[in-house]
Amino acid sequence: MGEQAKVESSSLELIDRLLKTIDSLIAVGDLKQAEELCNSILAKDINAASGEFLYLKGLITLKNEHYQDAVILLTEAVNNNPTNKKFKEELTVALMKAGQSCQDSGSFDEARNYYRCTLMINPNHEEAPEALVAMDMSGDYYLDVLEQIHIWLKPTAYLEIGVSRGESMTLAKPPTFCVGIDPTPLIKVPFHTQTELFKIESDRFFAEHDLPAILEGRKVDLSFIDGLHTFEQVFRDFINVESYCHPDTIIVLHDCLPSDPITSARNRISGWWTGDVWKVLPCLMKYRPDLAIIIIPAPPSGLAIITRLDPESTLLEKRYNELVEEFQGLTFKEFEKIRDESFNLVTNEWETIEKHIKEARTNHQK
Ligand SMILES: C[S@@+](CC[C@H](N)C(=O)[O-])C[C@H]1O[C@@H](n2cnc3c(N)ncnc32)[C@H](O)[C@@H]1O
Repeated sequence: MGEQAKVESSSLELIDRLLKTIDSLIAVGDLKQAEELCNSILAKDINAASGEFLYLKGLITLKNEHYQDAVILLTEAVNNNPTNKKFKEELTVALMKAGQSCQDSGSFDEARNYYRCTLMINPNHEEAPEALVAMDMSGDYYLDVLEQIHIWLKPTAYLEIGVSRGESMTLAKPPTFCVGIDPTPLIKVPFHTQTELFKIESDRFFAEHDLPAILEGRKVDLSFIDGLHTFEQVFRDFINVESYCHPDTIIVLHDCLPSDPITSARNRISGWWTGDVWKVLPCLMKYRPDLAIIIIPAPPSGLAIITRLDPESTLLEKRYNELVEEFQGLTFKEFEKIRDESFNLVTNEWETIEKHIKEARTNHQK
């Protein structure tokens, strides 16, 4: 072995020994000494051993419950070595803890940022979306709101796009007649009323089937759009469904009030995913001001209740390509601005929702 190689190997051995020493100090709970050793090494070389010492200092800081400082240190460690899984995992722990402590002290915007950063580091993180939902959503779960609408409206016919296990379809009760559309339903719960299920994509259903003939004269009084979670698809589903509605029909859209840019991205990169369905609301609000749109922060991802429909309106269909072009590039930041400035966000309590629906319907009847 040459002199240079000998020096390198002995310095690697030294780094290894130091890392092991700090590890064992942490293991026995001597955080003070572990931190002093880390500090003395980092004082000589901040990037020491590709972030290993920054990582250990971050770990110590995390154990000392200084979560925001731990985030800074662990972020530096990750920047030093972006492929190190251990660094990233510990950074997400620090981010979640920092989020929780901000939330506890009432700093909700900061808490939101920490939870969102967690998702940027690990899009499959399970607790981060849950924490965001717990902070941003309130009131009854979306299925409970949908059930209330069924009980109150007693729709003659109910049309559902996206049936999955049947948990939303099971809410319909006699005498409602149901039509469900889903290419791959995985029905797990019983239906309680007369139901026809079409195992195809919604576009194909509207192209190939005669809905009025299936309904045998019944009117679509209620529809739930919860199929493929992309803007264009939900936009087309809305256009198709509206053409079979009457002014007092209620169309309910799922997933239009997202809490973060990762789980509401167009392309699915996260475990929990609501897609870019949300882009349809700014589009409808701008080009169809004749519609009444009420938005409910129902967990987990919001509901939009749309009424005052116009089955004769052809505007959206005629300008479909142009509107898709206009809204598909909308960013999450732009969405937040539109949401804060122009959404008709209604408290998620049935009495309030009912009042708003009634008002929307009587206004158009005047
Ligand atoms: C989120 S799940 C529906 C959940 C259900 N509505 C509920 O609340 O229990 C979405 C469903 O949409 C279906 N889907 C996907 N693409 C579709 C399409 N093009 N047309 C209709 N349904 C579609 C999927 O097969 C999936 O079962």
